[in-house]
Amino acid sequence: MAEYSPGLAGVIAGESAISRIDFDSNTLIVRGYDLVDLTDKVSFEEVAWLILYGDLPTQGQLDELTTTLNAERELPPQVLAILLEAPSTAHPMALMRTAVSALGMIDTESQDISKEASLRKAVRLLAKAPTIIAAGHRYAQGLEPLAPDPGLSHAENLLYMIFGEKPSPSAAAAMNVSLILYTEHGFNASTFAARVVASTLADLHAAVTAGIGALTGPLHGGANEAAMQMLIDIGSPERAHAYVLDLLARKQKIMGFGHREYKSGDSRVPAMKAVGRRLAEAAGETMWVDIADAVEATLVAEKGIFPNVDTPCAYAYYTLGIPIPLFTPIFVASRITGWSAHIIEQHEGNRILRPGHIYTGLEGKSFRPLAER
Ligand code: COA
Repeated sequence: MAEYSPGLAGVIAGESAISRIDFDSNTLIVRGYDLVDLTDKVSFEEVAWLILYGDLPTQGQLDELTTTLNAERELPPQVLAILLEAPSTAHPMALMRTAVSALGMIDTESQDISKEASLRKAVRLLAKAPTIIAAGHRYAQGLEPLAPDPGLSHAENLLYMIFGEKPSPSAAAAMNVSLILYTEHGFNASTFAARVVASTLADLHAAVTAGIGALTGPLHGGANEAAMQMLIDIGSPERAHAYVLDLLARKQKIMGFGHREYKSGDSRVPAMKAVGRRLAEAAGETMWVDIADAVEATLVAEKGIFPNVDTPCAYAYYTLGIPIPLFTPIFVASRITGWSAHIIEQHEGNRILRPGHIYTGLEGKSFRPLAER
């Protein structure tokens, strides 16, 4: 038997040609490219193509993707009805999970797990994710959803459909960078969950739905919402030091900080921090960035723990005026790409994922009939 590793830390659970972290250079390599280096050079759509199809697109391929995304952004009436009927208190991640699952009932290719069909389904889901976020948000406020605008990019449509007005170039650029940084990150919990489901030869919608479930928790994608709540709770940079010390003393986790893989800083953070600070300075309110920096100073000094990408994403989204419960669903609107590539890869070289465990229960109990218990 292999050695037991709590949390599967250090366990190699599969092979993948999609991404890896190079720890020597602290670089996230996606399909051979330095992902962070791409953030100011390409659109999210180009990175989506890269992840799904293996290399950056030609102009023709990008046009093809853009046309398909535009054609697929609208939600079917059954899914709109689910979003409309959902309680206004439902968390947008629950709406996202339910809507993606419902799309699996409707998609005519849902049972087809061939690579070609899975790629088509991945693009259809990707197209619809911003529409799900915005429609759920607007229904919860008693508003009608807005139709997507075919002249806008993925990042722009997301902001446009939430707010009802076209985003500024700086807002669109900030969203584009965050979506690129959120696309793909190896065998993280949600990707692994999606791969486990795919390894049973379940279809793409089933596996993505599992990924969304795993991303919801505050130790994973939900950390961007939890991090922002914490920054608000701290309230001023001067309070950050004592706040962090108090949490550490109580053995509580500081949200948006720490990482299983990175031990000397998340490679995606500098790029997202720069975006977040630029937005904050332009908005004339740098307090959230300053609080996060103060938390970082204490946490690095006390524990050697650095922020992960969820912290700068959180204050960037907040500065853009995005409601906090939409932060993790926005992560989904990007990570669908990574999950889908992993699901396809899992299907291609599949062996069912089924680890062993150490039994800690009782043995040898004797049966007593119901009347005697
Ligand atoms: N705040 C305070 N302490 C933290 C911490 C955090 N955010 N992250 C890790 N630590 C501490 C642990 O308490 C532990 O300390 P100890 O050795 O004194 O007991 C040590 O660092 C190792 O942490 P560990 O729990 O083994 O890390 P992990 O790999 O199991 O967990 C995370 C990784 C990401 C789940 C963890 O860092 C975390 O919960 N972070 C907050 C949530 C978050 O931001 N998630 C998004 C990740 S992208």
